[in-house]
Amino acid sequence: MAEESFTVKVKFPDNSETTFEAGAEEYVLGAARRAGLDLPSLCEQGWDLACAVKVLEGEVDQSDSLRYFEEDKECGFALICTGKARSDLRIVPHQTGEMRECRDEHGLPAPRGT
Ligand code: FES
Repeated sequence: MAEESFTVKVKFPDNSETTFEAGAEEYVLGAARRAGLDLPSLCEQGWDLACAVKVLEGEVDQSDSLRYFEEDKECGFALICTGKARSDLRIVPHQTGEMRECRDEHGLPAPRGT
């Protein structure tokens, strides 16, 4: 049986959008790379926020991330290096600074240097 997959729409700052498919058992960042999209990352373990995206629509499973808080989800952020799509998604990349602000507001650890 073919692996379930979801459609991921990426919205860029200039309002352009691109779309790719992400399998249910792969990380969204890996699927983006396979589709030729060069999105930022560093640790690739769900730790340093380098790959942070805003989730406009959809569900991401972050259970493989080293550090992901409920508050991150409440603020609407995901770490796609270790996040798996659980529905079709619409995401905005380059959200490291914004996700860090959410962590700061909640008194949670927010790595610097990325
Ligand atoms: S690349 Fe570090 S959290 Fe995703």
